[in-house]
Amino acid sequence: MDLADAPLLFLGLLGHAAIWIGLVNRLHGLAFPRVVVRWLTLLRLIALATLPLAYLANLYIQDLPWLRPTQWTRLAAGLQAYGWGAAAMGLFVSARWGWRQLPRAGRELCRVQSSTSLSPAAELARHPVANPIRRAISRLPGNQSLELEVVEKELVVPRLPPALDGLSIAHLTDLHYTGGISREYFEVVARITNDLNPDLIAVTGDLVDKVHCIDWLPATLGRLRAPQGVYAILGNHDLRVKGELGRLRRVLTDLGIVDLGLTHRHIEISGARVLLAGNERPWIVPPADAPECPDRDEDEACLRLLLSHSPDQLGWARQRGFDLMLAGHTHGGQIRLPGVGALLCPSLYGVKYDCGVFHEPPTVLHVSRGLSGVDPLRFFCPPELVRLVLRAPAARSRPTAQTTTEAEPAGVR
Ligand SMILES: [Fe+2]
Repeated sequence: MDLADAPLLFLGLLGHAAIWIGLVNRLHGLAFPRVVVRWLTLLRLIALATLPLAYLANLYIQDLPWLRPTQWTRLAAGLQAYGWGAAAMGLFVSARWGWRQLPRAGRELCRVQSSTSLSPAAELARHPVANPIRRAISRLPGNQSLELEVVEKELVVPRLPPALDGLSIAHLTDLHYTGGISREYFEVVARITNDLNPDLIAVTGDLVDKVHCIDWLPATLGRLRAPQGVYAILGNHDLRVKGELGRLRRVLTDLGIVDLGLTHRHIEISGARVLLAGNERPWIVPPADAPECPDRDEDEACLRLLLSHSPDQLGWARQRGFDLMLAGHTHGGQIRLPGVGALLCPSLYGVKYDCGVFHEPPTVLHVSRGLSGVDPLRFFCPPELVRLVLRAPAARSRPTAQTTTEAEPAGVR
């Protein structure tokens, strides 16, 4: 290979990776059956690994013995065309890295008031990961899967009724009770949540992956307390309990947790009305009676708050005039590269809504990195428990020396 070809080859490989990783991300944003997603993911990962090898073979080996010359010529031409396409995609990705450094809409609405790294595992007599292989993974240098970041964010909601200025919401998501991390760990997380003294608690899905972990709910989420209530929806991983989904919802309801997957609610806080609704699309449809939520009445002071597992439902939220949408699902990518950010993100929009705050009027979207995952693997992406303090635009406090505008993990955006 000529040295002059190296930048082109690099761009080609970069674009190739972007194409196939992007396809995997979008595949996971769809509601295909789990087995289909698994097989398609495997095929795409094989393509991710195989095509660069074929491309290199094209560069270095001009005559493969098992191919007739005409076949080889066709294959070589196809690879060449793909290589140019991938190089163009690589250019696009390189440019996008630059764009990611620009401020994004929504960031200016959020100010981090405090951030504390806690270790719930340190309060336990036994390590929370019992399986020796998983425990070894959780102890890998740099693995932050058990380093809980408790963050307080002041969030301006442009249409917040003034009476709700200062309303605090604890946002929990993606707990993933699999048995991999012990129940006792999540009991500590519940206690930490209560210690934040939120007015309201919102849990945005992926609670239970394994049927036997439904029995963990009374000791964990069942202990959450907030004066304005605890609200929850389910996510795609909750479907793994299959025939027990009804029991899962019943247990939540029996614990006093309002299941917004089944209904919407009107409550009143400080004299102002709050509409709470849930959206479990695209995995659980229809999303209860949320489509029947009353439309926004511009004359009425009412906060419209949506709990959605997937941030991809932002368009749905905007159409229905929600002021604030809380979501999870993406886990912040779980593994983030410094200067690059998330690579794997199960969304139809790729890594666009990986984590943080986004403002696409009239909706402000908060995407949490979540508390856990199927595998105890997180780099530059610690799990987070967020306490949001809502602010009306005119009432936002002045910045202090301790406050910073929102920054993503690994310095992205
Ligand atoms: Fe999840």
